[in-house]
Amino acid sequence: MAYPRTQKLFSKLLHGADYNYEQWLDSPDILADDFRLMRLAHCNVMSVGIFSWALLEPQNGHFDFGWLDQLMDQLAENNISAALATPSAAPPAWLSHAYPETRRVNVQKIRQPHQRRQNFCYTSPIYRDKVATINRALAERYHNHPALLLWHVSNEYGSSACHCDLCYAAFHRWLEARYGDLDSLNRAWWSTFWSHRYTSWEQIEPIDPSMQALMLDWQRFISDQALDFFLAEANALRQIAPEIPLTTNFMQPDVGLDYWRFAEYVDVIAWDSYPRWHQDDDAITGMRTAFYHDLHRSYKHGQPFLLIESTPSVTNWQGVSRLKKPGMHKLASLQAVAHGSNGVQYFQWRQSRGGEEKFHGAVVTHLNSENTRVFRDVSEVGSILEKLSDITPTSISAPIAIMYDFENEWAIQYAQLSGSVHKNYQETCRRHYGAFWRHGLGIDVINARTDLTPYRVVVAPMLYSLSLESAARIEEFVRGGGIFVTTYLSGLVNESDLCYLNGYPPTLRRTLGIYSEELDSLTDQQQGSIIACAGNSLGLQGSYQFHHYAELIHTESAQVLASYNSDFYAGYPALTVNAHGSGQAYFISPRTEDRFLQDVYSSILNRAGLHNPLIKALPVGVSAQIRSDQDRRYLFLLNFSDQPQQVELTADLHDALTAAPTGRMITLLPYGSSILTTNADST
Ligand code: GLA
Ligand code: ZN
Repeated sequence: MAYPRTQKLFSKLLHGADYNYEQWLDSPDILADDFRLMRLAHCNVMSVGIFSWALLEPQNGHFDFGWLDQLMDQLAENNISAALATPSAAPPAWLSHAYPETRRVNVQKIRQPHQRRQNFCYTSPIYRDKVATINRALAERYHNHPALLLWHVSNEYGSSACHCDLCYAAFHRWLEARYGDLDSLNRAWWSTFWSHRYTSWEQIEPIDPSMQALMLDWQRFISDQALDFFLAEANALRQIAPEIPLTTNFMQPDVGLDYWRFAEYVDVIAWDSYPRWHQDDDAITGMRTAFYHDLHRSYKHGQPFLLIESTPSVTNWQGVSRLKKPGMHKLASLQAVAHGSNGVQYFQWRQSRGGEEKFHGAVVTHLNSENTRVFRDVSEVGSILEKLSDITPTSISAPIAIMYDFENEWAIQYAQLSGSVHKNYQETCRRHYGAFWRHGLGIDVINARTDLTPYRVVVAPMLYSLSLESAARIEEFVRGGGIFVTTYLSGLVNESDLCYLNGYPPTLRRTLGIYSEELDSLTDQQQGSIIACAGNSLGLQGSYQFHHYAELIHTESAQVLASYNSDFYAGYPALTVNAHGSGQAYFISPRTEDRFLQDVYSSILNRAGLHNPLIKALPVGVSAQIRSDQDRRYLFLLNFSDQPQQVELTADLHDALTAAPTGRMITLLPYGSSILTTNADST
């Protein structure tokens, strides 16, 4: 696949870190040694300038680029590229004091003092203007610099709300654009409830959780406003340096931004991953991290992404953060590559001496030496990535998609329903994902707007909020031969949180061949059971437990494959399948134990003939991923358990790093990883 602006970026696997050079300007000996250490660690990129506004513009309108010139030149001399940041994430104190309107206002209408970072109002014209000025200056100065590889726009945009007058006015304009007039808004929001009808836009204040539709639109607005701010920032870079690719670093998805919209405007997806290894079952943490990597690859429909931040050691803000056991750093780094990252970068290169993050892990610690376990781990990863550069054009083919939709997540969060304490939407999506991950297949993580036609199986748990357009897309997918699975708490409301009458939207009701009547919710102490029907088409046997939610449904055209086996609803359908067009649509009524999901999805995969062609079977805790192009296939085997594990292959492969033949039985050390390769046409 060709992505013109990212061709140079993807010519090798990137390895590097956030480099806060500006913190060490009075220690030239340290700075000089950094470049020696970077070469030793096989680093080829550094993210620079992220929090440097106070040095770049020490006084309003007075710029000092001297130190950054020196840094960029030194990077180029050492053959290291720069992911050059715009500094908007942390305005200098003089700016916040000179222009109070740039500081956020909290929900009590109190303007916040200058503190921490990411503390500014997305709407403030003055802030946007100041950012545009410095971004333009950076772009003009460095767009032809040989070190410049990538724009790192700002840092981790968030969705903290600002309740200033400027933001409210912008929100009212946003609502006007969405609804046209107040009558339509009042209808969409069902605002006659509790006498909330609005008679002017100015009366609308996004502070009322009892108005779910209002809060949902406020969340959408904040996300759109962050995107609008990002686009304003990126504008100067695009104009002056159109050939330089541009990214911004995303976080885990549940931060209240619709990253799918951002994805349309960045050239490459980049994200910051901080898993909590060695705290719970590492196989679960591995699965969770895989889910996030797959989501980030899916944002741009399979294009390689960048793991742009990860810790080489501990993470200081997590309360508890364990040291990585031997093998873990390489395993976590290769996991990102296995799922489509074209690089591994760290926060941060060198530990700061002071400030909030002085005890965060770094490649070079306060010991100031290369003779550390962490430095050796990092260098090993660097040397592996250097040898794997042929992998950059490969991609992951994903026949399965898990639908995890952010707007749906926001709607679920605001909904007051029975069992509210147990919603756990993202976790539920991950549990369904986990049942597929165990098979070593490519999985995309998509949203409700994604085109479903590339997939064989689409699973959409708890799709509470469903637009008529998405429901129609699902019907079309199933009619065309797709396998669709959904669960309790799906298809209940439209995008304004208005409940559908007469059961589901008609398209969904036809597709599933059922309608839903009631929802039971259970306490943490309670469980129920379901039992497989004799001779069911998935070959399920025996009974399974469920907890939290049990929806009571009736079949219309669907077949029952399992029924409730407890409570007054024993005998009601617990798992159904409906043949629709040339596809099938399954419905799972209760929240079941994982074993049920594993059995159901194994059977669905078997029947659809979907399996990893290079492996016989995977032990629990071991994951397999294939990256391939027309010439080669790379098989990553990743052991997230603390025991040695064996994996039997279906073909004779080679070690991707040494080219040695591997035989058919691969032994992985505890937390071990292996990269194997084969021609694309073997097996
Ligand atoms: C985030 C930020 C970094 C740093 C790290 C620490 O990802 O982008 O600046 O604070 O967290 O984990
Ligand atoms: Zn504001």
